[in-house]
Amino acid sequence: MDKFIIKGPVQLKGKINISGSKNAALPILFASILIDESVEIQNIPKLKDIDNAIKLLLHLGVKIKKGKSLIINANNLYNHYIFPKNLVKSIRASIWLISPILNRLGKIKISLPGGCSIGKRPIDLHIKYLKKLGAKIYIKNNNIYAYINKTFKGSHIIMEKSSVGATISIILAAIYAYKITIIDNAAKEPEIKDLANFLNTMGAKIKGAGTNQIIIKGVLKLKGGIYKIISDRIETGTFLIAAAISGGQILCQKTNPKNLDIVLKKLKYTGAEIKTGKNWCSLNMKNRKPKAVDIITGPYPDFPTDIQPQFTLLNLIALGKSKVTETIFENRFLYIHELIKMGANVFFKKNQVICKGVKKLYSAKIVATDLRASISLVLAGCIASGKTIINNINYIDRGYETIEKKLISLGANIKRIKNN
Ligand code: UD1
Repeated sequence: MDKFIIKGPVQLKGKINISGSKNAALPILFASILIDESVEIQNIPKLKDIDNAIKLLLHLGVKIKKGKSLIINANNLYNHYIFPKNLVKSIRASIWLISPILNRLGKIKISLPGGCSIGKRPIDLHIKYLKKLGAKIYIKNNNIYAYINKTFKGSHIIMEKSSVGATISIILAAIYAYKITIIDNAAKEPEIKDLANFLNTMGAKIKGAGTNQIIIKGVLKLKGGIYKIISDRIETGTFLIAAAISGGQILCQKTNPKNLDIVLKKLKYTGAEIKTGKNWCSLNMKNRKPKAVDIITGPYPDFPTDIQPQFTLLNLIALGKSKVTETIFENRFLYIHELIKMGANVFFKKNQVICKGVKKLYSAKIVATDLRASISLVLAGCIASGKTIINNINYIDRGYETIEKKLISLGANIKRIKNN
């Protein structure tokens, strides 16, 4: 794995273009194989997770033209089982192959999905609800086997937990289902709304995405078309925090601040000046230190768990004491042990950490443990005194497009050492 060498402290300031959303792009890529005509998807971020999703699609016989946008044609989809295990394991999103392939080919064999090690990440809800929609599914020797008889059957699903992934699996299944599907307690994340907008553009009949009740009327066929995916709210939040922790200022362009309400509110409480427009937002910390602010992660519109590590870092260098509560993933504080090596002062209490802001962080030799943890450590390196070395940095390429380039444009001093 590669490593980063970061020299600090620096103040991060400037402007940045936010990339397309990873978590919207992944389900939309897999949804495109529901369609047997060409689909053009714009604003796809250049990320490792997206590369891996594309590789999986190529294994299915899907034709993909890469340019400024992606043109996908799944007319010749033929393969329901040859998925290289390492590819499937490389992304959690591979679970979303099941519903589209069942819809197109009636059967699938695929190994269990992977993803970041931030918790147990079970798939029981995906399986339970696909069964409710008429699929026969079983797991044997770490493989998932699934079948449907002609089509899925619409059903009323009351989700016991508002899961993003399971909501997406249900939508992708119900699209061609016989009868109507109603999902209650559905996840409300903007990425789900984006998936529904994409599918509706191609002829689907989905109502209510973005609320807790989604209604899907099965259609006979989807058609091809062009769609531009939304901007990445997690990347936006990350760059705003980068400016906040370094006393700097930033303008994030090509983004939608409406999808970031709670994060902007919390950043205002830290004392930052926040301004927003239709497709931009800015933060100015005016050379000050942020004030500590409590956060509790939760399903949208609550505080995103994917911005928890970045905001925890803010609290660890802020003025005062704060409490960070993680309610989504049980293993999402691992990176804090690395920050402790840099001088952070924390106290762990079940799913909470109590942060006591320190004056400054010091450089250290540390290790990245997952995607969002990596960015938190990189930002820590930017504000720490001295030379920080972060090993296993490749996680960051899964979710941040040209991260060094973007951070260097804001004033960071980062070098990647490749390990071939
Ligand atoms: C997605 C995002 C991830 C984000 C998360 C929460 C993608 C590729 N990933 O992950 O970045 O952090 O939403 O916003 O979009 N659960 C079960 N059984 C299941 C499925 C989930 O118990 O079958 C639990 C999970 O362990 C977790 C909670 O439900 O505690 C929420 O998980 P979920 O919303 O499904 O997250 P992901 O879709 O995996």
